Amino acid sequence: MTATEPRVLQKLDGAPWEIEPYLRVGGYEAWRKCLKELSPDRIVDELKQSGLRGRGGAGFPTGTKWDKVLHHRIKERYFVCNAGEHEPGTFKDRYLLKHSPHQLLEGCLIAAHTVQAKASFIYINHEYQEEHENLKKAIAQAKARGFLGKNVLGAGVDLEIELFSGQGSYVAGEETAMLESMQGRPAMPRQKPPFYPTDFGLYGKPTLVNNVETLCNVPRIIQNGARWFTQVGTEKCPGTMLFSLSGAVNKPGIYELPMGTPLRRLIEDCGGGVPKGRKVKAVFPGGPSFAMVTPDQFDLPMDFDSLKKAGTGLGSAGVIVVDDATCMVAQTLKFSDFFKVESCGQCPPCRMGTINLATLMAKIEHGEGTQKDLDSLLQLCGFVKGTGYCTLVTGAAVLVQSSVRLFRHEFEEHLALKRCPYKPAPAGVA
Ligand SMILES: Cc1cc2nc3c(=O)[nH]c(=O)nc-3n(C[C@H](O)[C@H](O)[C@H](O)COP(=O)(O)O)c2cc1C
Repeated sequence: MTATEPRVLQKLDGAPWEIEPYLRVGGYEAWRKCLKELSPDRIVDELKQSGLRGRGGAGFPTGTKWDKVLHHRIKERYFVCNAGEHEPGTFKDRYLLKHSPHQLLEGCLIAAHTVQAKASFIYINHEYQEEHENLKKAIAQAKARGFLGKNVLGAGVDLEIELFSGQGSYVAGEETAMLESMQGRPAMPRQKPPFYPTDFGLYGKPTLVNNVETLCNVPRIIQNGARWFTQVGTEKCPGTMLFSLSGAVNKPGIYELPMGTPLRRLIEDCGGGVPKGRKVKAVFPGGPSFAMVTPDQFDLPMDFDSLKKAGTGLGSAGVIVVDDATCMVAQTLKFSDFFKVESCGQCPPCRMGTINLATLMAKIEHGEGTQKDLDSLLQLCGFVKGTGYCTLVTGAAVLVQSSVRLFRHEFEEHLALKRCPYKPAPAGVA
């Protein structure tokens, strides 16, 4: 396998829920191996050696997380696959749910079995109805073959995976908010520490939560070994990443590339550059919650550590490209409004902060802002950053700070002209 061949995305014949094409490429062999040959500790060891890190945004080492739940003193444990995906510009989990339900299911079975979960769930964005249906059909086919249900493959193990329709908000994808909502409560994050899911998860019991893409990597690691996995990517971020590429590119879509691939390759080779001969003005390399980068940073390697070092982040790799015909104040306002609407309102700094950030952004974009508003905007970012039970408000502040840092002249122009320079001037105004 070369460095650029897909590893997570597998092209299969037939309908995605049909089990036969998946079995023909070695599907469920890793699951069989885990049931019959490997102890849970051996599985965890393999994952640790692979260096797999969570693809849901935080990049936490997967093997370490599994180890924590497996060796927890409390024996009542749960497993939840997080398919809540609701961030603007991120759609890779949807692709996997739709096209690779068996691969995901196999990853879930291995995870649930390894940590000896009492019950296991896939929490799925409620808007993903076709994907939900595909998973349901895939589960039925896998069950008919004895891969889940009672006495799985004659190994004396009983295992079911239940589908749970999510609340459909951005915050509901935050793992502790997701667990709250699964217990019939509002989808609001818990305070961390101390309430990390590995200690205090579903029903207050140790719970393993992993992202869809993370779990889709697992069967292939078990099948091919940790050394195979580490052959691509960087030393600290091995493997590939699914990039959701959107915005001002000719070919938006999902691209699987080795971790550490330069941003340039994604935008120019995969995305085919910017339409209508325009130029790139800025790129969100990890969705709207992380700082933007500019074209002089196109050689940045796309992995968790390199982007963090560069003052931004990979998140779940929702790469949004902005062209030079875009007003950065208007673009920032759009995402500020998103954060305002999606704040669950639990923590005062987030509830008030996201409203005030969006209000000040709107004032400036609509030509009603003053220098004092711009100063207040930046001051507010400093106040709210790092507060809140989850990172939503920090993301909202980072967005504004990065926009002002890189495009201050556009903010100043709005203040001076008392209108958006990207919109036609009203009649009689120069
Ligand atoms: C506001 C917010 C939304 C999130 N949404 C998702 C999501 O939709 N899917 C996801 O897997 N992780 C999401 N996360 C990250 C999860 O809290 C968690 O880190 C992840 O599911 C762990 O899985 P992993 O270790 O496999 O990455 C979100 C985090 C925050 C702060």
